[in-house]
Amino acid sequence: MFNLILFGPPGSGKGTQSEKLIAKYGLKHLSTGDLLRSEIAQQTALGLEAKKIMDKGHLVPDEVVIGMISSALDANPDAKGFLFDGFPRTAAQAEALDKLLDLKKTSINVMLALEVSEEELVKRLLKRGETSSRSDDTNEAVIRQRIAVYHSKTAAVADYYKGFDKAVYLKGEGTVEEIFGRICGEVDSRL
Ligand code: AP5
Ligand code: MG
Repeated sequence: MFNLILFGPPGSGKGTQSEKLIAKYGLKHLSTGDLLRSEIAQQTALGLEAKKIMDKGHLVPDEVVIGMISSALDANPDAKGFLFDGFPRTAAQAEALDKLLDLKKTSINVMLALEVSEEELVKRLLKRGETSSRSDDTNEAVIRQRIAVYHSKTAAVADYYKGFDKAVYLKGEGTVEEIFGRICGEVDSRL
C-alpha cells in the first residue's frame, strides 16, 4: 500500500492536486472537509453541528473526524492506498491515524506539505467564494481565522512527521501542472 498525506493551509491546493493524484496513482481520496460537507448536504445531526463550527473557521472535534476516517478505512479494504487531504489537522489526529493504520498493518509513506503565502491563500479562497457554495469562503475574516487555526493547531502536525523523517515541503505556488509535477516527483521516488 502507498499512503500519502497532502498537507497545507486552507487554499494551498490540496483538493485540486488530490483529484489529479488519485487519477494517476489509483489511491482512495479521503478528505475530511468533503466528508463533513457531505454530512451537511444530507442534513444529518453531525452535519448540522459541524456546519456551525466550520462557518466560524474553527476545527470540528478530533473524535468526530477520527471516527469518520476510521469508518472510511474499514469501508475500503481493497484500496491500493489512501490519500489523506485535510487530515490529520492536530497532533491527536496524527497519533490516532498511526494507530488506525497500524491495525491494518500499514503506515504513512510520506507527508507532502504545500507552501503558499498568506496573501495568495486569501486571494484564491475569496475568488472561489464568488462562485462556490462553500459558506466558509465568502468572508475574509473567516478565511483568515481558518489560516490562524492552521498556524496555531495544524502546522505542528508537520513536526510530528518530521520526527519520523516523513515530511517534505514543496512550493505550492505556480501553475497547477507545475505543482503536480513536483508532487509526482516525490511520489515516484518513493514507489
Ligand atoms: P477543508 O475542506 O479541509 O478546507 P481547507 O483546509 O480550509 O482547505 P480548502 O479545501 O479550502 O483548500 P485546499 O487546500 O483543498 O485548496 P483547493 O485545491 O480547494 O476544511 C474545511 C473545514 O472543515 C475546516 O475549517 C474545519 O472546520 C473542518 N475540518 C476539515 N477537516 C478537519 C479535521 N481533520 N479536523 C477538524 N476539522 C476539520 O484550492 C483552493 C482554490 O485555489 C480553488 O479555487 C482552486 O481552484 C485554486 N487553486 C488551486 N491551485 C491553484 C494554483 N496553483 N494557482 C491558482 N489557484 C489555485
Ligand atoms: Mg480542500
